Amino acid sequence: MRRSLKDKRIVITGSSSGIGRALAMETAHRGARVVLAARSVGELDQVAEEIRRSGGTALVVPTDVTNPADRERLFDAAQQEFGGLDILINNAGVAAHGHFIDLSPEILRQTMELNFFATAENCRLAIPILAQGHEPMIVNVSSMAGRRGVPAWTDYAASKFAVCGFSESLRAELVRFGIDLMLVVPGLTKSNFGKHLLARHGRLPAQFDSGVTPETVANLVSNGMERGKHELRIERDARLLLFVNWLAPRFVDWRMAKIVRRLYSKEIAQRTPVSVS
Ligand SMILES: NC(=O)c1ccc[n+]([C@@H]2O[C@H](COP(=O)([O-])OP(=O)(O)OC[C@H]3O[C@@H](n4cnc5c(N)ncnc54)[C@H](OP(=O)(O)O)[C@@H]3O)[C@@H](O)[C@H]2O)c1
Repeated sequence: MRRSLKDKRIVITGSSSGIGRALAMETAHRGARVVLAARSVGELDQVAEEIRRSGGTALVVPTDVTNPADRERLFDAAQQEFGGLDILINNAGVAAHGHFIDLSPEILRQTMELNFFATAENCRLAIPILAQGHEPMIVNVSSMAGRRGVPAWTDYAASKFAVCGFSESLRAELVRFGIDLMLVVPGLTKSNFGKHLLARHGRLPAQFDSGVTPETVANLVSNGMERGKHELRIERDARLLLFVNWLAPRFVDWRMAKIVRRLYSKEIAQRTPVSVS
């Protein structure tokens, strides 16, 4: 379904930073009324202030999306302030960098809790409200690592694959209520994502600064919402990797194993015993 963002009531999770912040600015610029949800109240207030200064409408709702009571409060606030909801953007996310064996059960659970469970439970709360909205839509932000697993991003990839599978299934179910669903699959983006990592045990740090800007992502996502796209893949290297993986997944497996062999050559040569953290 094609839609205009003018006057749309939009909840954006993770709007205190990076992609979510840029999405709040861009959709407000296109005439949407935005509900800003994240934990950092000071940052949310700044985003809201900037939006209001340029003539837009923004509501701040301090929210930890992993907390069920906070989630309920978020959607209640949107309904009370704007009388309903038209678009939900599940954008809040986090990652840990490191091999699965070097991370911990706590980190795996934290990652799944935010990236997957909060996304799914936000959808559960929002669907009845969206069903009464105008040209309604859910936007779930996954990742390139949610379409192709990558070493040292194992927990993250698992959570983002879950978002993709959930979203593809849900998209068809939502025809019952006339709600669209768009999946966003970004590659490297210059946000604060690298600073917010839950762990840094990986040996090949991701070069977030070489990625696209959050403003580019926000512009493409906003265009995608207006055009009723089903899936958006953003950033050249990510798109190339996904294309090569589609053509020759065994080749990509081989390349990734080669990199891990190089990075861990000393341990492999010494047959270092595995210790679980
Ligand atoms: N940057 C990349 O290269 C990249 C690539 C692919 C996909 N993505 C995805 O894009 C999305 C946005 O990430 P970003 O790059 O913009 O990273 P970011 O700058 O670190 O922003 C993450 C946002 O999530 C919010 N958040 C974290 N925990 C939260 C919680 N418990 N409750 C509510 N909000 C929470 C943070 O706000 P508070 O700390 O204030 O709560 C922040 O606003 C994520 O889903 C990420 O997985 C990013």
